[in-house]
Amino acid sequence: MIMMKPQVVFELGGTGVGKGTQCAKIVEAYGYTHLSAGDLLRAERGQEGSEYGQLIDSNIKDGKIVPVEITINLLRKAMEETMQLDQSKFRFLIDGFLCNQDNLQGWTHVMEGKADIQFVLFFDCSNQVCFDRCLERGKSSGCSNDNRGSLEKRVQTYRSQHGPS
Ligand code: C5P
Ligand code: MG
Repeated sequence: MIMMKPQVVFELGGTGVGKGTQCAKIVEAYGYTHLSAGDLLRAERGQEGSEYGQLIDSNIKDGKIVPVEITINLLRKAMEETMQLDQSKFRFLIDGFLCNQDNLQGWTHVMEGKADIQFVLFFDCSNQVCFDRCLERGKSSGCSNDNRGSLEKRVQTYRSQHGPS
């Protein structure tokens, strides 16, 4: 069976900027499959016996970026599984990836020639608005990192590692 090369759009922006919200709209309007690096990492962390559970957990709690090998394998697996189930689903909207230099190197190393990057969407809004949204979301999301301590670290990581902002 010949598989299409995945066509990828990356979506970037700080935590709480509304990536997830906009993704849902793009998926609905343009038929992309949404993959979130953060969601995939959280799912892997929750797998019983996961080799990387602890490492993922400590990085997420500290607002740090998980080593790219782990994240990229989760993304690659998710794209393959989606396309195996339905060949027509080769368009992916990847949220929260390519978030630092290590992510970019990992992508190039593993995916060069195996996927086509269409473009990158970048969202921005003030730290304060993002912060308030996450605290609000934290009341009901149960996310271990939607609290003031983790959020401050995430904002710091984001500001120091992401491109121009
Ligand atoms: O994007 P989201 O806020 O869901 O990401 C949650 C956490 O997942 C990040 O704070 C970071 O610890 C981790 N992450 C990562 N590498 C990525 C995306 C997210 O390590 N490319
Ligand atoms: Mg998200």
